[in-house]
Amino acid sequence: MSVYLERMNQILRPVAPPRVIEGVYTDDQHRRMFDVVKQHGPWPTIASHHFDSVEELIATVTGVPESHGLTLDDIAAPQFRGYFAEDSVVYHPEIRDCFYNPVFIDEIADYWGVPYAKPSYMLFNICGPAPSDAPGPPHLDAVNFRGVRTGQAPVWLQNMMGKSGLFTDHLVKMGQIITWWYTGENGTFTYWPDGPFGEPAVLEHPLVNKGVVVQNEMMFHRGDPVGAFDSPPIVGLKHRSTLGYDADDDRWHMCTDDDVIRTYEPRDIRFLVHWSAELYADRDELRKSLDHSDDLTIDGVLDRLVDTMATAGHRVDIPADPLKDPVFIAQLATFYNIAPTTEWLEIPAA
Ligand SMILES: [Fe+2]
Repeated sequence: MSVYLERMNQILRPVAPPRVIEGVYTDDQHRRMFDVVKQHGPWPTIASHHFDSVEELIATVTGVPESHGLTLDDIAAPQFRGYFAEDSVVYHPEIRDCFYNPVFIDEIADYWGVPYAKPSYMLFNICGPAPSDAPGPPHLDAVNFRGVRTGQAPVWLQNMMGKSGLFTDHLVKMGQIITWWYTGENGTFTYWPDGPFGEPAVLEHPLVNKGVVVQNEMMFHRGDPVGAFDSPPIVGLKHRSTLGYDADDDRWHMCTDDDVIRTYEPRDIRFLVHWSAELYADRDELRKSLDHSDDLTIDGVLDRLVDTMATAGHRVDIPADPLKDPVFIAQLATFYNIAPTTEWLEIPAA
């Protein structure tokens, strides 16, 4: 194993073993959150929130094969996302208590073993039964660094920084409480708490108001297929497809433009809520975040990424529009390439 892979296998681990928790939300909180999902859709695909090219998407999971010939529509996955809160602002007053949740703040601060925490983001994923090859592979969530945070840089760059191991001194401490509701078949959660080359752990289904306290931007993880492994393929799925609730017939419709490509009954919907917090070990760390005295810059980050590659004999030029250039993104993703190699799930042969 290369020095890089050995080092990243040590770095890409959560700050503490993930904690499984039960009874995460009250029934009333769940109802209010799910009502927001029903009333404010339809919701776009997860990938459409974060990625403008195949290279950007693949760069967050593993290296990019040359001449892949794929479009974002070719690799669209039937998983949909919306935000309840961003940058510590919750969009729906009826779920403020779910976001500014003192129990969660205590839990995440205790998980990290630090005194200070604030809720930062809250999102949800919804999906229904789909063929077992539809969900994405193991991945890291977007990593934040002082100076290069969500909203300031594309997700692919945040992940590349995480997978490079070059910027750990500037890491923003984050932690999540992720909770699921699904009573159908499958839908487990697989994660690699002992590094990408360690044995994965599986949170078994059914996952009903059951959650895990984690640091998901430093630990490979994946949502496993939801529903029967031989669920019928979804024909016509695109990057721009949506999933929304139709109150008139109490069902959920997946649509591409004006075409309904799949309809789910209420019991089919797997609901995931992802609450995220930022943490500080002491006031000095918080001050550095506030006064930006210790910020990275995107230009400095790109220089360091390519300089490290050059030292290893892989000379790459930074293009005119590096954050959008598919060739450049693929070059970085091929060099800074780490992903679990251990089996994650036994899928019966068709
Ligand atoms: Fe994730």
